Amino acid sequence: MDDNRPKDVGKVQSPATDKMWGGRFGEGPAAIMREINASIPFDKRLWKEDIAASRAHVAMLGKQGILSRDDADAIDAGLASVHAEFERDGVPVDLAREDIHMTVESRLAELIGPVAGRLHTARSRNDQVATDFKLWVRTAMEEVDGALVSLINILLDLAQRHCDTIMPGFTHLQVAQPVTLGHHMMAYVEMLWRDRSRFSDARRRLNQCPLGSAALAGTGFAIDRFETAAALGFDGPTRNSLDSVSDRDFALDYLAAASQCALHLSRLAEEVIIWASQPFGFLHLPDSFSTGSSIMPQKRNPDAAELVRGHCGRIIGAFTALMVTMKGLPLAYSKDMQDDKPPVFEAHDLLGLCLCAMTGMLAQSRFDGARMQAAASSGFSTATDLADWLVRAKNIPFREAHHIVGAMVKAAEGMSCTLNQLPIDAAVAIDSRIDAATLAALSVEASVASRTSYGGTAPNNIRQQVAERRAALAKEDGV
Ligand code: ARG
Repeated sequence: MDDNRPKDVGKVQSPATDKMWGGRFGEGPAAIMREINASIPFDKRLWKEDIAASRAHVAMLGKQGILSRDDADAIDAGLASVHAEFERDGVPVDLAREDIHMTVESRLAELIGPVAGRLHTARSRNDQVATDFKLWVRTAMEEVDGALVSLINILLDLAQRHCDTIMPGFTHLQVAQPVTLGHHMMAYVEMLWRDRSRFSDARRRLNQCPLGSAALAGTGFAIDRFETAAALGFDGPTRNSLDSVSDRDFALDYLAAASQCALHLSRLAEEVIIWASQPFGFLHLPDSFSTGSSIMPQKRNPDAAELVRGHCGRIIGAFTALMVTMKGLPLAYSKDMQDDKPPVFEAHDLLGLCLCAMTGMLAQSRFDGARMQAAASSGFSTATDLADWLVRAKNIPFREAHHIVGAMVKAAEGMSCTLNQLPIDAAVAIDSRIDAATLAALSVEASVASRTSYGGTAPNNIRQQVAERRAALAKEDGV
């Protein structure tokens, strides 16, 4: 026995004496059960999808003769009333009604009476929730795509305006080679274009309807799952009822794509933050997207960009949360899966906010071309051009040319000048093959104009890529 152990360590605290949570026991276990069990506080967001899926289901039940025409019509009219009511007044949150499915159905029963009980023929909340959530995530994917296109359009505008604006390109955040701002903007267009393809790929994979899988095993009623699938805009029904009610891949696909998209936005946000800092001064943030400091009057803080950078962490957290919830769950449905919705809702709200903030911020930002060009001229950014020139004009092997330029950089550093300011005799002393034409090859304009390889930074390349992306967007719109 450890004698240093506090004497009362094994004593069970009486719940009633615990001020934090003991009081809850006074409500009795049923109230606690109700609280942990209920999802209505958050799944009320599925109300439109829930009613739409129920209407498709009841129409099919009527058509198949599983319900009488009159009953099916009465239920459908009742669901239309519930829709109108919820649209007008919002969804009532009553924990006793547990979730959106029971909230809709019990309101329906209040409106149309016992015939409402026939709606739940040949289905279960397990296939219902999978269907509702798929419909919701599908719309979410479409919304993200629209927001991505808006941001891409702003980036294309900037790229077009700044095809010839020279800035330093960095590796290791050290000045590497001159590039154009247009080229830099188009790099983000590429990332966001891949994001779009991830969302559309996920949407295609999602688009099979689980409705009619019932609790897990299917149903003995002569339902037509192809009919309900088509009515709800799915490509067809899911193929395996067990998988249908236990699958949340579509939500994970959404969160994975959202995470990667948020990651891209966080990189752009970080660059905006760096560019807007005083030592850089590449970018002037609009008043509408910066905040002041309560103590330092000169400050213009890039809060929106910082929050885009920060929210990325929460979106990746949402993805992780659902991955961990789903890990190791046996087939088919388990109540753990009710926790699938909050992370998806949160990630979607945050991603929408980040995309809109980035779009608004960039649309109104001003770039300082002169400062960017000056920065591009620093740090011997055209050293590679000089080495390339020696290879091309003097037939010197690249490794040797690299060595010669290294010596020139060292000399220029010693004289505190740039490479093209190096006195010609100092340059010739390093290698006799260097002449005045060599140094002329060293302007940042000549450097960017020379990089005409496919995907390179040359202004004409960028103009062409902007035009190609614009044409692709116009084609999607059917223009
Ligand atoms: N509220 C539940 C959820 O979101 C609906 C499914 C409940 N099914 C069940 N067998 N308890 O997952």
